[in-house]
Amino acid sequence: MKRVAVLTSGGDAPGMNAAIRAVVRSGIEKGWSMFGVRQGFAGIIQQGGTMLGTTRCPEFAQESVRRHAVGVLDKLGIEAVVIIGGNGSQTGAFALSQMGVPVMGIASTIDNDLYGSDVTIGVDTALNVALEAIDRLKVTASSHQRAFLIEVMGRDCGYLALTAGIAGGAEAVVIPEVEMNPEQLAQELRASFERGKPHGIVVVAEGARYNADELSHYFHANRERLGFQIRTTTLGHIQRGGTPTAFDRLLATRLGHAAVEHLARGEHGSLVGLLKGEVGSTPLSVVAQGAKPLDPTLIELARILAR
Ligand code: F6P
Repeated sequence: MKRVAVLTSGGDAPGMNAAIRAVVRSGIEKGWSMFGVRQGFAGIIQQGGTMLGTTRCPEFAQESVRRHAVGVLDKLGIEAVVIIGGNGSQTGAFALSQMGVPVMGIASTIDNDLYGSDVTIGVDTALNVALEAIDRLKVTASSHQRAFLIEVMGRDCGYLALTAGIAGGAEAVVIPEVEMNPEQLAQELRASFERGKPHGIVVVAEGARYNADELSHYFHANRERLGFQIRTTTLGHIQRGGTPTAFDRLLATRLGHAAVEHLARGEHGSLVGLLKGEVGSTPLSVVAQGAKPLDPTLIELARILAR
């Protein structure tokens, strides 16, 4: 009989519950006792509760806190831990595994910046939320012949902004991976209005060098010269809430089940993710080091389609 704990860590992402369900049901199928750790890594420190939540736990970077967590797991007789989360969470997962705890990670973050999974749990839902907002804002933008800055999440990664911009037919995307200054953007929007477009939709990644607030400030200061009006909408945490899409639920279920299968085979210390359409795994040591660059063909696609 195995005693296995599952926890979610970092920013919540739509689909995490489906992953928890898959881990727990797949574990029970194997005859294991399954435990849910409340409030992520902080939950290991505080010994749990009855409902899973998540938390940012910067203290987990400290060796002493990690040692304490390992002690708590030992005391509870937990033999393996499944950690559902993004970059920070999988770095913590790697640290735990280096301390001898059998760990499996499950790739989950709306940012899609985690090495070891082409797409992570929550991205599809967040993208669809952003897309719905873009569609709605485009309608009012067209009615008033205005430009709109729509800021999406993503931390330092432009994936959400780029894909939302492509799918939403934006006139421009502003992402950390590509240099773009306010005047350059203003001229692109002017040119697009001059070509006869009734709206100027700009999807801005929160991590871009100039975020929506800064761009908006510049545009308002130069409004007379630029000759068009601009409004700003910041989507923020709306992208993390709501009901996960079918894609996210299925992905979460497949990854949750795969994590348990790995543990059942005595394999651990890796992250399960989607690799070229198949469920696969990557050592946590590689995940913790690896950076996931944006696909340059998507950047080029956004540029071509914005015309
Ligand atoms: O990592 C997910 C994410 O939503 C990022 O896109 C964003 O920068 C960050 O979390 C916000 O963090 P918090 O929920 O702690 O404010």
